[in-house]
Amino acid sequence: MGVKEKLEDLLKQGIEEINTSQDVKAVEEIRVKMLGKKGPLTAVLRGMKDLSKEERPLVGKFANQVRDELTTAIDEKRASLASAMLNAKLAAETVDVTLPGRPVVQGQPHVIQQIIDQLVDLFSAMGYQVAVGDEVEQDEYNFERLNLPKDHPARDMQDTFYVTPQVLMRTQTSPMQARMMETHDFSKGPLKMISPGKVYRRDTDDATHSHQFHQVEGLVVGEHVTMADLKGTLEVVAKTLFGDQLEVRLRPSYFPFTEPSVEADITCFNCLGKGCAICKQTGWIEVLGAGMVHPNVLKMSGVDPDRYGGFAFGLGPDRFAMIKYGVEDIRDFYQNDVRFLSQFNQKG
Ligand code: PHE
Repeated sequence: MGVKEKLEDLLKQGIEEINTSQDVKAVEEIRVKMLGKKGPLTAVLRGMKDLSKEERPLVGKFANQVRDELTTAIDEKRASLASAMLNAKLAAETVDVTLPGRPVVQGQPHVIQQIIDQLVDLFSAMGYQVAVGDEVEQDEYNFERLNLPKDHPARDMQDTFYVTPQVLMRTQTSPMQARMMETHDFSKGPLKMISPGKVYRRDTDDATHSHQFHQVEGLVVGEHVTMADLKGTLEVVAKTLFGDQLEVRLRPSYFPFTEPSVEADITCFNCLGKGCAICKQTGWIEVLGAGMVHPNVLKMSGVDPDRYGGFAFGLGPDRFAMIKYGVEDIRDFYQNDVRFLSQFNQKG
């Protein structure tokens, strides 16, 4: 058999094998067998040296042609097998668009954050600015500038975590009173602010105490601000959060940074004043501390107490949430049990 016939046979046989192969692996085997270093085509090319001068270019040309045709056939077969595989895979994986979707569980703000958000909305609407302070505070602002000098006995009510002798985890949001007053330009109008945030006290945790809880501080300082303004403001807060039927009453109290100081109660939401277990038969529930800003506090922040005065209050969103939803243990708010927390969804 001449070299040309050999090559023709090779081509025919190769094309037939390629056409009948069933998968990509078989095609690859054919490629190695036919076109590889040990394959028949390479052998023909190697044998070219024995051919005559005239034959050599003709055979060479033909051998190249055979190699190209086989390569093309292999490539095409490989592509068609790959697309057939893809089609089979796609057909097997068809999506049934009529199946019901998987529900997405939507989260919500923490119940205490919901109370804070409501208060921020309410006070922003009344023209208050919202100031957020630092949880790590200087002794000077947390105590001294609030009329609580070193060794003042009232410091004992708020024992806390000290970072250094002069720096501590704030025990209250009241330091923001001093910080805001010292930077406010009173010639431009009154200062009206609320300051929500976390506070810390070295308490033993129990059903009504947590070493970390929240406060929302409120402060209004300007000309002609009276205690009636304080009471009216607290009434708006109580009615917005707990409902229109609730009353607010003020009782005398003591805070070093307010004079006079009061504690505010609201009508018991549960018995509406008749007396029940929740309000310990008094008909009232204590909700916050407040008072008229002490002249010393104004002076220490560079505000003239003869010209300006105002009120301050500090309320606890944790306590508000407990009252509003009848939660008996404050620790429930901090254990992050989604079954508990998901019950409180303001937005429905
Ligand atoms: N800072 C006080 C507390 O933590 C609450 C308070 C704030 C009282 C402002 C009066 C005025 O108990």
